[in-house]
Parts: sequence; C-alpha cells; structure tokens
Amino acid sequence: CMGGNGDGDGDGNGNGGSDGNPETVVIGSDIPYEPFEYRNEAGELLGFDVDIAEAVFADQLGLDYEFEQTGFDGIIASLNNANFRVIMSAMTINETRAEQVDFSDPYFTAYQTVLVLEGGDIAERADIQGATVGVQRGTTGEAAAEDLQSEFDGDLEIQSYDQITGAFDALLNNQVSAVINDNTVSADFAAETDGVVFLEGDGVAADRDDAPDYLTLTIEEYGIAFRQDDDEFRGEVNDALAAIREDGTYEEIYDEYFAA
Ligand code: ARG
Repeated sequence: CMGGNGDGDGDGNGNGGSDGNPETVVIGSDIPYEPFEYRNEAGELLGFDVDIAEAVFADQLGLDYEFEQTGFDGIIASLNNANFRVIMSAMTINETRAEQVDFSDPYFTAYQTVLVLEGGDIAERADIQGATVGVQRGTTGEAAAEDLQSEFDGDLEIQSYDQITGAFDALLNNQVSAVINDNTVSADFAAETDGVVFLEGDGVAADRDDAPDYLTLTIEEYGIAFRQDDDEFRGEVNDALAAIREDGTYEEIYDEYFAA
C-alpha cells in the first residue's frame, strides 16, 4: 500500500476529543484492515477510510472526528447501542445489514477473492472443496465461504478469526489453505508477503473492465452505516460524498492508495 496522510486522532477513547467540541463524530471501525484503516509503525492511523473521513467530516462538514476500535463482529449492535455515531470500516452494503442500519451511498467497489499459498493445496476453484478456509468473523468473506460450503454440500471447513490478520497468519502457518476476503486488502497482504497469491479463475466479475483478473466470488459496494433514526445526518454525508467526487478529492485519495 502507498501509505496515506490521514490524521484522524484515532485515540480510540471515543470521548469526543479534548477540545470540547460536542460535534465530534465518533467512527466505529475494526483496525487493522489495510489499506482502509491501519496504523503505521509510529502508531498513526492511516487508510482510505481515514482520508475519506477527513474529507467528508472535517473538510466538507466542518466536524471533528475520531476513530474508535470496535470488533467487526458486533459492530452493528455497537452502533445501535450508540457507542459511536457511524461505522466506517470497509463495510459492504447488503440486505441483512440494511435491516438494522441505513447506509450512505456506495463509496467503493470490492470483490471477495481467494488468497492461497503458491504451490499449495488449492490450484483452482474446484480444489476449495474439502479444504479449510480462513475468514474474518462476521464479514461478507465469511458469508462467501458459507455459500461455497453449501455448494460443496458441507464439504468445506471454515475457520473464523476476530481480525483478518488472524486469517492471514493461519494461511502462513498452514492452518488454513485459503483466505476469503476483500480483494484490495488481500492484495496488500500478498504484495508484502512472499509466496502468497490470488487463486486464478473466471469469477462473477470477469466481464467488468475494472475488475481484478483473478477469481472473484462476489461484487460488493462499501457504505458508511448510520442508525436508522439518523436520516438528516446521513443526507449531509451523502451530499459531502457527492461533493468530494465532484471536486476531485475522491479521485486523489483513490489514486493515493490504488493507482496502478
Ligand atoms: N467488506 C467486508 C464486510 O463488510 C469486510 C469488512 C471488514 N472490515 C474491517 N475493517 N475489518 O463484511
């Protein structure tokens, strides 16, 4: 990943900051999920979501904001318990979640993909049958693994980890033969880890020009999640998202992380 300059204070205490501004937007997020939300060696919070938060909440809406670490599994319950104002966590918009929260307009397209060890047990899609795959608990990667499990009549073992790093470690330690996860996050890990590659094959996104050229299991869109009684604020955030697309800020941030 190319880095970033996000400066959300990321102290994680969710106390609304020290400047006494009551308008601080506390953002629930599961960190690390590089390149969307992660810390560098100095402990600074960086990432695509962090930069989008800066552009939307700070620059467009004039609000302070801070990120609060929250486990991904249960992050929706935590939002609905008012532990923070919004979720920004590379979260995919889907119907199940939309019963419990309202989403912003989509701000990023992602694909579920299969990461494997080069020369390992899985060389093609059919080899996933009978294997053990690692996922992050509560994610659409876990849901995609469950779909494969049904397709293979149960002949697939799923190991769920609290954070994606647990699944990546399990792959390197041969505890799982594959990791099913969002493409750009897996791409970052593969880029910095020898012998880790995407499973090839024609997937659901094969005919899209902007899609990855390896196996894709799903096409997804990320959204910012709000409580269902927060419509006015959600409208302001949608306007801000539209404004940063229009003025080039979105593209600048996008290129910083994902330029070819
Ligand atoms: N996009 C996937 C989902 O919504 C994974 C998100 C995981 N995010 C994170 N920050 N750990 O389920």
